[in-house]
Amino acid sequence: KNITIMGIPMDLGQRHKGVDLGPDAIRYAGVKERLEMLGCKVTDIKNIPIGRAEQLQDDEANLRNLKAVAKASEEIARQADQIVKSRSFPLILGGDHSIAIGSIAGISKHYKNLGAIWFDAHADMNIPETSPSGNIHGMPLAASLGLGHSALTGIYGYAPKIKPEHIVLIGQRDLDEGEKDLIRKLGIKTYTMHEIDRFGMEKVMCESIAYLKDKTDGIHLSLDLDALDPQEAPGVGTPVYGGLSFRESRFAMELLHEADTVVSAEFVETNPILDHRNKTARKAVQLMESLFGKKLL
Ligand code: ARG
Ligand code: MN
Ligand code: MN
Ligand code: MN
Repeated sequence: KNITIMGIPMDLGQRHKGVDLGPDAIRYAGVKERLEMLGCKVTDIKNIPIGRAEQLQDDEANLRNLKAVAKASEEIARQADQIVKSRSFPLILGGDHSIAIGSIAGISKHYKNLGAIWFDAHADMNIPETSPSGNIHGMPLAASLGLGHSALTGIYGYAPKIKPEHIVLIGQRDLDEGEKDLIRKLGIKTYTMHEIDRFGMEKVMCESIAYLKDKTDGIHLSLDLDALDPQEAPGVGTPVYGGLSFRESRFAMELLHEADTVVSAEFVETNPILDHRNKTARKAVQLMESLFGKKLL
């Protein structure tokens, strides 16, 4: 398998310093070497430059760094588009989750019905009117659905990028009221921690894959490291207790590998400044290994 790694040192979608170092923390954890050991051909196109925030003030009400995020999203979309065009698998390293606006914009162009599996403590389905923070990393899924500010929904010249019935949310435990309403209104398939505890990861993944398999022509994996429990993955800006174990997460990746329908992936929100001895980045790399077929025996 041909894989192209693209790093996005994005930190404008939230307020913590250090998430821009995520791509290098993941490289330092050996991502390229480990995927090569599985027999993959790996190219690392290095980091996409990200503009700095206008220090003065927010560009728009409740949309921190809107202009800089929108500008970066166009470039992310262009690069992701190129990788898919070159018939390589885009493996995108964040950076905060706002990068998904651009990555999905670039990737979805190539699919009639792109699916998405969103592992996250959150749903990232806020719009400016519902966001408690104004942080754009809490909005990328809404923006991809065509909801929110036009500067975000219109990235790469088309909207929406994805349909609600082609999305599965997994691992949620911190949803804002507006997000809950939207999930219900759009009928988005959601496996919160409650469903994971009740049914187990095996059933959750098998159902998710079955739900998406026939109606989509490829699945984008968007994995926020805060889906994992902060005891195991502390290097994230918005930790929430009661998350996925590493063991469950790895098993989920193994099942995705078996299903063979993931066409692109991003691993986001790794923040080495908030981490302990790079353990969050190291877990991210182990999850990637399982996604690309590493077997325990
Ligand atoms: N729901 C909260 C907000 O909108 C938190 C979002 C966290 N998002 C993330 N990608 N970690 O501000
Ligand atoms: Mn999150
Ligand atoms: Mn997220
Ligand atoms: Mn944050």
